[in-house]
Amino acid sequence: MAALSPDAILLTGRVAVVTGAARGIGRAIAEAFEAFGAQVAVCDRDKPRRDRANQGKGGALAMTLDVRDPVAVEVFARAVAERWGRVDVLVNNAGGTFHAPFADVSAKGERTLIEENFTQVTGMIRSMLPLMGAGASIINVTSSEAHQAAPGFAVYAAMKAALESLTRSLALELAPRGIRVNAIAPDALPTEGESGVRESMPAGEFDPVRVPPLGRLGDPGDAAGAAVFLAGDLARFVTGATVHVDGGIHAAGGWRRV
Ligand SMILES: NC(=O)c1ccc[n+]([C@@H]2O[C@H](COP(=O)([O-])OP(=O)(O)OC[C@H]3O[C@@H](n4cnc5c(N)ncnc54)[C@H](O)[C@@H]3O)[C@@H](O)[C@H]2O)c1
Repeated sequence: MAALSPDAILLTGRVAVVTGAARGIGRAIAEAFEAFGAQVAVCDRDKPRRDRANQGKGGALAMTLDVRDPVAVEVFARAVAERWGRVDVLVNNAGGTFHAPFADVSAKGERTLIEENFTQVTGMIRSMLPLMGAGASIINVTSSEAHQAAPGFAVYAAMKAALESLTRSLALELAPRGIRVNAIAPDALPTEGESGVRESMPAGEFDPVRVPPLGRLGDPGDAAGAAVFLAGDLARFVTGATVHVDGGIHAAGGWRRV
């Protein structure tokens, strides 16, 4: 392996796919990828940014679709293939949850959580893998809740834990092809999705006064920084790993500053 140059931090010319990029963490990742030189294809069930979409080979590609819809995902993969012929980075960011005691979650609600947070990821990876070669990487956005008990979010947390397991297994399966697979596990990073969930929680279950060991709340840009690292050559020997973007909460075993 060649020695690293300072340019190894850049993603110049790489083709990056980011799901759930209309807002929040996905949007921050897509914008950071572009800032570091990548060509970005985004999708979201809400209208994704189209400011630089469809501007020829160099411009971003933006599609409105539900990642749970395999036909729509195939159309998306075909559009990426036609535009660039390959995928260098796939970020499975789309996902979400609602707060409810386990016993109150219907079978339909449970299926939604499973599809929303797990099976859409396996489907997206299956669709994009034929476009990925040596040097490519997959980044799955999981959650701190994959690593700890999450009352009120049991199925969501189980699906994020499943994604962590998938990350490690695929890291080994895809290593012979030179494809890396890693996870980013955020704790609470203020986004529209996160505030919606927080506001739905019963009073007292979320204490906004408690902050992570690093002494501040995080923001979506903190997750984007980890994604830029994992997507590029600085992380060329990193696979099967989880980067905890949580200000130290995982290391602290739940302890937080008051
Ligand atoms: N923000 C946090 O505190 C936090 C913490 C842990 C994990 N996460 C994870 O990070 C990811 C992003 O979270 P966020 O806080 O930015 O959420 P968000 O709700 O603000 O944004 C998520 C985006 O994904 C899109 N999306 C969701 N489901 C989709 C689907 N089926 N098809 C297409 N688009 C879909 C939404 O439309 C939205 O634009 C999620 O996977 C979430 O579970 C977030």
